Amino acid sequence: MSGSRIAVLASGGGTNLQALIDACTSGALDATIVEVVADRMCGALRRAEEAGIAALFLPVAHRRDAAERAAHDVLLAESLAVMQPDLVVLAGWMLLLGPVMLQRFAGRTINVHPALLPEDGGETVETSCGRLPAIRGAHAVRDALMLGLPVTGATVHVVTEDLDAGPVILREEAPILPGDDETTLHERIKSIEHVLLPRAVSKVLAARQTAVASEKGAW
Ligand code: GAR
Repeated sequence: MSGSRIAVLASGGGTNLQALIDACTSGALDATIVEVVADRMCGALRRAEEAGIAALFLPVAHRRDAAERAAHDVLLAESLAVMQPDLVVLAGWMLLLGPVMLQRFAGRTINVHPALLPEDGGETVETSCGRLPAIRGAHAVRDALMLGLPVTGATVHVVTEDLDAGPVILREEAPILPGDDETTLHERIKSIEHVLLPRAVSKVLAARQTAVASEKGAW
């Protein structure tokens, strides 16, 4: 086991999880994935199991049931806390985090989002094609196509209580090409995410280590 401890939350195919697994295995990322949690039976769970990573299936039966969501929030926070992660990475996690998770892992939860998001949490983002709408939420790839944007991309940001509006860690553009549909565009964005996410994790972990070292130095 090496470096920092990462927990990954995922709801989908898990290609971003795989990029993190590969980066840890190759040594490009000096970290160990200590747990993967999924709210659905999904490819990410299978990838975790194949890589020999502790995998937890924590479903929500009724997404709109507030009591169930609150219980899920506590259970998720407690099961992650046991693994003592330095960083929680949302890699295709499609559930809004609840207040317990947000508080317990404040400042050390990051998310990869399939669109360009601005540094200031505002409604527009500066791009190579000028200022464009910032696209948040669960359908960012579809929405970029529907809006007829010339460019979109991927952003890794810190998770805060405001949806997809926390401080940006890294961001990169992807062109929208004539004839693109949601699948082709999402594949292009994902290929960017697979490089961006491990780099962003590395950047955050390095910053945390520097902060810890300077705190120690102060004593
Ligand atoms: C990724 O494109 C990620 O940005 C997106 O889900 C996909 C997961 O793909 N996340 C969101 O939309 C979160 N709002 P994967 O399961 O193959 O990594």
